[in-house]
Amino acid sequence: MTPDAPAALAAEAGALTAAAIATLEAVGSVAELTAARPDLLGRGSPLTGLRRRLGGLAPEDRPVAGRALSEALATVEARYDARLEELRAAERRRQLEAERLDLTELAEPPPLGRLHVITQTQRRLEDVFCAMGYTVAEGPEIETEWHNFGALNFPPGHPARDMYDTLYVDHGPPAGTLLRTHTSPVQVRVMQNQSPPLYVVAPGRCYRQDTADATHMPVFHQIEGLVIDDGITLGDLAGAIETFTTAYFGPGFTSRLRPSYFPFTEPSAEFDVQRPDGTWLELGGCGVVHPSVLEVCGVDSERWSGFAFGFGIDRLAMIRYGIADLRDLWTNDVRFLEQF
Ligand code: FA5
Repeated sequence: MTPDAPAALAAEAGALTAAAIATLEAVGSVAELTAARPDLLGRGSPLTGLRRRLGGLAPEDRPVAGRALSEALATVEARYDARLEELRAAERRRQLEAERLDLTELAEPPPLGRLHVITQTQRRLEDVFCAMGYTVAEGPEIETEWHNFGALNFPPGHPARDMYDTLYVDHGPPAGTLLRTHTSPVQVRVMQNQSPPLYVVAPGRCYRQDTADATHMPVFHQIEGLVIDDGITLGDLAGAIETFTTAYFGPGFTSRLRPSYFPFTEPSAEFDVQRPDGTWLELGGCGVVHPSVLEVCGVDSERWSGFAFGFGIDRLAMIRYGIADLRDLWTNDVRFLEQF
């Protein structure tokens, strides 16, 4: 047998080392690297296999060739260890990145609701009247027949009661309770409990057995106004309504007072505003407080006089926001309500 030339063995060792290093560079994970180890450095690996051929060399060549082989194995081993470190570090970085808790991230703000357009309108009206020197009063929505009608000059059986399709409440005795048909009973409660001079508004819900249409709902809102002072006349009422209309709608809005009838005011009027299309919308009633109402409520009608008004809040919102149909306010379609 011809002895192996040491140069051939060294060349082969060099080629196997280069191939092993190329494999080490190519693996992409610790698992791939450790799986490749037996083929690169294990007992059965080609490089280790070269050792078995040392015996075929001339005895004087063996130490040099043996050292060369050991160096080749040490080179691959060192590269293996370095690569293991690199891949472990890369995997640790990836894991840390994946598990990173970003405490600087801003949470989505919770979706906020908003006040219903009627509530917004009511608050705005209160602001306007407060700026005009009025205070805000409240009364119950379930009223006695006496406060809703009797004290306001509607005796039992009076035909004017028919103007209000009233919803009665069956509380048992004493009879005579109803869902208030207007905010005017708050006038009575204020006059009974406070002394003139009075400048008061009373917003709130009212109920009538009205069929729902574009300008009527069975549940709606009014804002009542009551002024009692020295020598108050119809002129003061007209002036107050004018001031209110300009403050609420802005200048250039056309309104009118139209003669009307309410048992608790004399004279009485209806207050209308003109819509952009030229048609008129009735916003409320008003008038000079009837002396007998003052007397029933304990106010000296010789000493004091006053005016009152009651406007539909829903209709004021219609005009201000250009709402065509009151029923839209109650369907609670968020796309509609979000506009206000
Ligand atoms: C009254 O309720 C009187 N209390 C107003 C008043 C107060 C007169 C003080 C004199 C002095 P009337 O029934 O006209 O009046 O109603 C007043 C306003 O409430 C109407 O102009 C309208 O704007 C509103 N309104 C009445 N019924 C409804 C309804 N079903 N839906 C929506 N708004 C309504």
